[in-house]
Amino acid sequence: TTLTGVTPPPMGWASWNSFASSIDHNVVKQQTDALVSSGMAAAGYKYVNLDDGWWQGERDANGNIVVDETLWPGGMKAIADYIHSKGLKAGIYTDAGKQGCGYYFPTTRPAAPNTGMEGHYQQDLETFQRWGFDYVKIDWCGGQAEGLDQEATYKAIAAANEAATAVTGHKLVLSFCEWGSGLSWNWATGYGDLWRTSTDVIFWGQTPTTAKMLTNFDRALHPAAQHTGYYNDPDMLMTGMSGLTAAQNRLHMGLWAISGAPLLAGNNLATMSTTTRDILTNREMIAIDQDPRGLQGVKVAEDTRNLQVYGKVLAGTGKRAVLLLNRTSASASMTVRWADLGLTSATASVRNVWTGTDAGSFGTGYTTTVPAGDAVLLTVSGTEASGTTYEDTTTATT
Ligand code: DGJ
Repeated sequence: TTLTGVTPPPMGWASWNSFASSIDHNVVKQQTDALVSSGMAAAGYKYVNLDDGWWQGERDANGNIVVDETLWPGGMKAIADYIHSKGLKAGIYTDAGKQGCGYYFPTTRPAAPNTGMEGHYQQDLETFQRWGFDYVKIDWCGGQAEGLDQEATYKAIAAANEAATAVTGHKLVLSFCEWGSGLSWNWATGYGDLWRTSTDVIFWGQTPTTAKMLTNFDRALHPAAQHTGYYNDPDMLMTGMSGLTAAQNRLHMGLWAISGAPLLAGNNLATMSTTTRDILTNREMIAIDQDPRGLQGVKVAEDTRNLQVYGKVLAGTGKRAVLLLNRTSASASMTVRWADLGLTSATASVRNVWTGTDAGSFGTGYTTTVPAGDAVLLTVSGTEASGTTYEDTTTATT
């Protein structure tokens, strides 16, 4: 397989976290408009992804999905066209099995039987491509319930995407949503563009927590799988959803950015606060996430009190992003050492991402206070020995 994955990690908005299955053309248009008017599109959030609930569970005599035109006037092509008319890209949802997750856990709409892709892989992917979608997320509730082989199933879907593309000329970005249950990072690179590594950060209707945010971050760290433009996916963002403080929202973005994760906002963009918008659109945080070198951060130091230092090698020479993560319940003084980042210079300059200020130039390392259960996100510029392969010699946390 030629590795031509989507680069950099996808950014956008997805409907599930705020709307569950209650989506229609009005919701999607409102959120599309807000993506543009809020400045998020200009900051790089390009995808508008319809998640579970767009379908109604019907296929016609030829096996084609039947769309409810009261919810989607003009059909799904019309909503993809609308998204494109704003200069954005459109995403849609399906399942590897016969049913999506809504069939098993109906939320706000009746379950839709037999609308998952099984038996229709190429047919449905061609349909999504003809409608104009650019991206498809493939859930796993149906596949799991039917006991399908995960690796074989998702690889068959990738092959069907190639075959469908040969017909329509319009390839889809493939987002595998298998929750890491089949160790996707060992086989998904080159088949899916991104693959989930854990269950949802927030299950529908539950209150988001820092603990689950950290769990999903830990489970997404498979740097060897992310060397080539393909991405471990710790899940959509819960940034800006009710129940989270501004500090938690910044922590969330810092964790996702250092791991080079897809940034798919899940909050209601039409009602978000300016604080939330400013966190989501912070240019330096986004640059860390979207860095063209496409690597994942790795843990470069920790101590027994659960104080962890993560470093991400950035494009250029001697450039690093650093996350000082304090997982304890007390404020702590934390240090990042240049040697732990593979930097050889006597001094390096430090910038604080969230305050947008230069901290200065420091020898050996940099020490700062990190509040309990929080993190500090930095960029560091120093020098490194020429020809260094630092990213290949650091160790994963798995
Ligand atoms: C489970 C997935 O993990 C979620 O992201 C979401 O797509 C829901 N299914 C939809 O039912």
